[in-house]
Amino acid sequence: MKMDLIIKNIGKLVTMSGSFFPRVGKQMNELEILENAYIAVVEGKIFQVGVGENYKELVGENTVIDDAHGLLVTPGLIDSHTHLVHGGSRENEFSKKINGVPYIEILQEGGGILSTVNSTKNATQEELYNKAKKSLDRMLELGVTTAEEKSGYGLELETETKQLEVAHKLDRNHPIDLVHTFLGAHAIPKEYKGNNEAYIKILVEEMMPKIKELGLAEFCDVFCEEGVFSVEESDYILSKAKELGYKLKIHADEIVPIGGAELAAKLGCISADHLMAASEQGLKDMADKGIIANILPGTSFNLNKKSADGRKMIDLNVPVSLSSDYNPGSCPSENLQFVMQLGCLNLKMTPNEVLTAVTINAAHAIDRGSEIGSLEVGKKADIAIFDAPNVEYLMYHFGINHIDRVYKEGRLVVNNKQVVY
Ligand code: NIG
Ligand code: FE
Repeated sequence: MKMDLIIKNIGKLVTMSGSFFPRVGKQMNELEILENAYIAVVEGKIFQVGVGENYKELVGENTVIDDAHGLLVTPGLIDSHTHLVHGGSRENEFSKKINGVPYIEILQEGGGILSTVNSTKNATQEELYNKAKKSLDRMLELGVTTAEEKSGYGLELETETKQLEVAHKLDRNHPIDLVHTFLGAHAIPKEYKGNNEAYIKILVEEMMPKIKELGLAEFCDVFCEEGVFSVEESDYILSKAKELGYKLKIHADEIVPIGGAELAAKLGCISADHLMAASEQGLKDMADKGIIANILPGTSFNLNKKSADGRKMIDLNVPVSLSSDYNPGSCPSENLQFVMQLGCLNLKMTPNEVLTAVTINAAHAIDRGSEIGSLEVGKKADIAIFDAPNVEYLMYHFGINHIDRVYKEGRLVVNNKQVVY
């Protein structure tokens, strides 16, 4: 069989192979790293991974051969938590924030998420599309080949649908694959202030069934936080979502330890995200049930808060993934490589653990563990080539983009650090 593409002369190839389940504990640090390696690709999928010269018999007349000149190659990065599609930006709240006004206080005064709700309602589909496309290009240039994206800036059916439709269009037109999440429970809309029950009724009885019927979202998520949705409300919303056939995610214990991690374990969420304030019992419950802790170090950094305890979670055998949480409020940055560097510097994770957290464990966090997240036969040829000699270097030299080129399903989409698709 002759190949479409062979990448040869790979100095270090991190395969992440053998990960049918999210990696836990020591497995997060123990990686297969092949030297002088190659990857052979046909029809967008990996056909063979090997070392030495064995690739030669796979070379045909039309095979493209890419010489990696000894660089580091890993699976394409996966950003498993973003709020990609939204209108406007919130630099008008920046001074308040740096003067110490708490995130939740800004929201309760009608700013924060609610201000982005206004901007998103007022934006046209085209405006939302163009803004999000710019962000996706940035992500791709940083090595991201798949991302999750959430609605949650409409808080009524029309705008939530508009956000998700834009995301579906981007999924069709842009090289990055998107996984869609409905986050109608992101805040209580202004009109329902003090009347959570009435909003939750509409959410559960009208919005969630309609979004499911339209096939717009695979996951359902809730912002479970003091002053937003309580544990009881989140339990009710997510239980209904499960009945409707959604897979579950939860923004849990970001600011106050109210039992979000425990709820994630009870409901069997695929991931619980944030967890800066999660209780030890909650983490143990998550470890027992194999719930992924999706940690967002860029958000802690930007909110000037202590990060979630990634080190402790790994030591407790909770599977850990890391993601950007890219959004206009708590983390206005698409830079997953910076998040990875924070994973080492602030969460005390090893470089290998961090790479696991943004590849195979991130794939499992969006229920794509059998398709992406590792470079193994039959999986998508989503490949990141870094201008770096080893994994440690990626985390040590911080604040820059280490990507040299990126392949999405065997197609060159970033070359010389720039999108070329
Ligand atoms: O994950 N915490 C809730 N939601 C987002 C922030 C959204 C926003 O501020 O616009 C988050 O941090
Ligand atoms: Fe978020």
